[in-house]
Amino acid sequence: MSFDYKVADLSLAEFGRKEIRLAEHEMPGLMATRAEYGASQPLKGAKIMGSLHMTVQTAVLIETLVALGAEVRWVSCNIFSTQDHAAAAAVVGPNGTPDNPQGVPVYAWKGETLEEYWWCTEQALTWPGGEGPNMILDDGGDATMLVHKGAEFEKAGAVPSPSEDDAEEFKVFLSLLKKSVAADPQKWTRVASRIKGVTEETTTGVHRLYEMHRDGKLLFPAINVNDSVTKSKFDNKYGIRHSLPDGIMRATDVLIGGKIALVAGYGDVGKGSADALRGQGARVVVTEIDPINALQAAMDGYEVARVEDYIETADIFITTTGNFDIFTADHMKRMKHQAIVGNVGHFDNEIDMAGLEKTPGIKKTEIKPQVHEYAFPDGHTILVLSEGRLLNLGNATGHPSFVMSNSFTNQTIAQIELFTKSAEYPLDVYTLPKLLDEKVARLHLDALGVRLTELTKEQAAYIGVDVAGPYKPDHYRY
Ligand code: NAI
Repeated sequence: MSFDYKVADLSLAEFGRKEIRLAEHEMPGLMATRAEYGASQPLKGAKIMGSLHMTVQTAVLIETLVALGAEVRWVSCNIFSTQDHAAAAAVVGPNGTPDNPQGVPVYAWKGETLEEYWWCTEQALTWPGGEGPNMILDDGGDATMLVHKGAEFEKAGAVPSPSEDDAEEFKVFLSLLKKSVAADPQKWTRVASRIKGVTEETTTGVHRLYEMHRDGKLLFPAINVNDSVTKSKFDNKYGIRHSLPDGIMRATDVLIGGKIALVAGYGDVGKGSADALRGQGARVVVTEIDPINALQAAMDGYEVARVEDYIETADIFITTTGNFDIFTADHMKRMKHQAIVGNVGHFDNEIDMAGLEKTPGIKKTEIKPQVHEYAFPDGHTILVLSEGRLLNLGNATGHPSFVMSNSFTNQTIAQIELFTKSAEYPLDVYTLPKLLDEKVARLHLDALGVRLTELTKEQAAYIGVDVAGPYKPDHYRY
């Protein structure tokens, strides 16, 4: 078998394979899904383009999709999040060797430029022979955006030129589209027409999907995987509780205990972040714009204040909002010496990196990759992690396997749903039925030694549910 791919170094595959083997044991949901569906091959004929952090855990997801019959091409959805050994192992595959790779085409390496990032995304969306995928598995919506914007500009007859105010990322994106539409003026229209649907991993990507649908621009149905309870209430919360302190520690080795840590946003990611930092002994301050979340934070025992209140006293600033300009260049100028600034939302504009870089007299020093010291003209410095991008993936290895098994089992089930039952999913954005959400949780109980109580028939009738579930109405919030 020969195929195109681009990763850092295939000789890392053996290390990647060892870590995949360990991860498989920690991903009981995915392994049970392989056992349940391996024989029936529900994804036979599926051509899945995946844009999701190319980590060890993602390699287990990729190999699950392949075990269910899919053809897969993959990229990372972030320029720093690829684990090069995982990417190599995914290309080599369980039965291949670096000289004879037999896995899947991956286009991802740690430390891509923005140009390379969008090049990789286009490669993964282009099957040999010029055909596109028939399914997308997305994280943050970049692959979905490329297909949609491409088709939109083709219909309009021109790709717009970027304006001065556009973010660097968007400028690079437009320039890639310009080239690709010039080479093949109907490429994205064709690609879009073949796609049966997309399953979206994260809050930010899900926002984009609902907006596109509201504006009548969505071109194919979508399943919002993020809002499966076993995704957002687990990965976003317990995943970040593990990977945020891991990232801060690997990046800086600064003792978190006793420090003042400000967490912007108290949604699922904010809750996990605040909990982790408090667990390390930090004095945690939360900022919120939503009175409900602000009240929750206060009742969980956090001080709730504004960024301005702590700008000169906090030691660690973490943004988790999915919004932009949370820490502005002006804020950063006023932070104390060696304050640590990091983002665990989705895009780098949560921190005004562009504004920081343009600050008159600013001096940037690389301490090590993904850790930069910015010195202001008065001599004081701040430390910015992962150049303002997801630090838990850029400075550490992202969320651990067990929690990602929940997320990725939802992803696999969502791919099967959309691919095999297209007729039941007309154009819209869906969440998975609660029974499937409960199934994902169930698959993870034995590994933790959980003994679930079984309802009696009488109890089930008394609370108005089926003995086998679902146990809660759709409006229940957990
Ligand atoms: P969420 O919607 O539950 O929480 C975001 C919170 O930020 C909301 O409560 C909102 O009211 C608040 N917020 C918005 N603007 C604000 C502002 N200016 N100041 C203070 N608070 C503000 O979303 P969730 O699930 O917590 O996700 C947040 C972000 O994290 C998203 O971009 C998501 O894609 C990303 N994410 C990152 C992960 C990672 O591994 N780093 C994992 C999962 C999600």
